[in-house]
Amino acid sequence: MKRDFLGRTLAVIEDLSVEEQMFLYEKTRELKQRWYNGEDVSDFRIKKRNVGIYIVFVEPSTRTKESFINAAKFHSGPNVKVNVFDSEHSSFNKQESYTDTFSMLTGYSDYSIFVVRTRLEGVCRLLERRISEFASRNGIEVPSFINAGDGKHEHPTQELLDEYTFLEQNGFDNSFIHVALVGDLLHGRTVHSKVNGLKIFKNVKVDLVAPEELMMPEHYVEKMKKNGFEVRIFSSIREYLSQKDVAKIWYFTRLQLERMGEDILEKVHILREAVTFKKEYLDALPEGVKFYHPLPRHKVYPTIPNFLDTLPLNGWETQARNGYWVRIVLLSMFGGALEAPFDTSKKE
Ligand code: CP
Repeated sequence: MKRDFLGRTLAVIEDLSVEEQMFLYEKTRELKQRWYNGEDVSDFRIKKRNVGIYIVFVEPSTRTKESFINAAKFHSGPNVKVNVFDSEHSSFNKQESYTDTFSMLTGYSDYSIFVVRTRLEGVCRLLERRISEFASRNGIEVPSFINAGDGKHEHPTQELLDEYTFLEQNGFDNSFIHVALVGDLLHGRTVHSKVNGLKIFKNVKVDLVAPEELMMPEHYVEKMKKNGFEVRIFSSIREYLSQKDVAKIWYFTRLQLERMGEDILEKVHILREAVTFKKEYLDALPEGVKFYHPLPRHKVYPTIPNFLDTLPLNGWETQARNGYWVRIVLLSMFGGALEAPFDTSKKE
């Protein structure tokens, strides 16, 4: 029976089964508890020989890149090398392909884990196929690829830290979640990963709050319904708050200006108005509500303005910090330090 996660690729959140995701969340909870109790956590560290963790970011990032670098450094030591690839000064600028680039990097360690952010949707699936062929030809272990955000497609490690944070807020009860997704649901990859990531909860109710121009693509809405989620649609925060059944978990996204066409950009100020939280809405919120946001937020036009920072509803700071812990555990799993008590070769 296979119990390890070596050579696994996380291109989309569904690459980890619900059972595997729950294992990661339980281990993250354990790591945090043991760390803050001052206990030994060395069993989480990668022991495999000559492992290279490569952080390859071709698109801008603060949180994902830096939390992965720090998570990788948790593992670094005589066995584990942490490499931050300088894509700006690499041979990408001489039109070298992703396949050739990652083939070369794979050759510098016995086993590699790549953390990859690019605009190219599906890049990790492509690399998984092509580089495993290269590895077989050259007698190298098949590497792992971790999608750190590919265009407007998916952001599975953000999904892991989001779901972990929701569970933490819920006292690790996964029987039910009612969540509002608010903002640019068309271009935001973090909300696209929720379509399958929320399946860790047994009962799911999702409220989509966005103007028509920024609404979640229909195929994702259909998938959520197929997954058994109850889905409701609202065109603005004002409309959402005008009814009584308001979620206690709100997940905001920024307007992804860099991914918008001219037609949307020319009315962006009107669209932004519909999904920006205002002081006048505060009284309509349910008791105990928490706001989350993958960040970054726009410094001039944030959907969660700064007046919210000091209120108890601020959940996004804890959420961002959880990224460090969740990513340590993901690397522990993909680096062979953690094995599951169940068969990892099976797909759900
Ligand atoms: N949440 C997130 O992906 O942020 P960065 O773009 O800063 O990594």
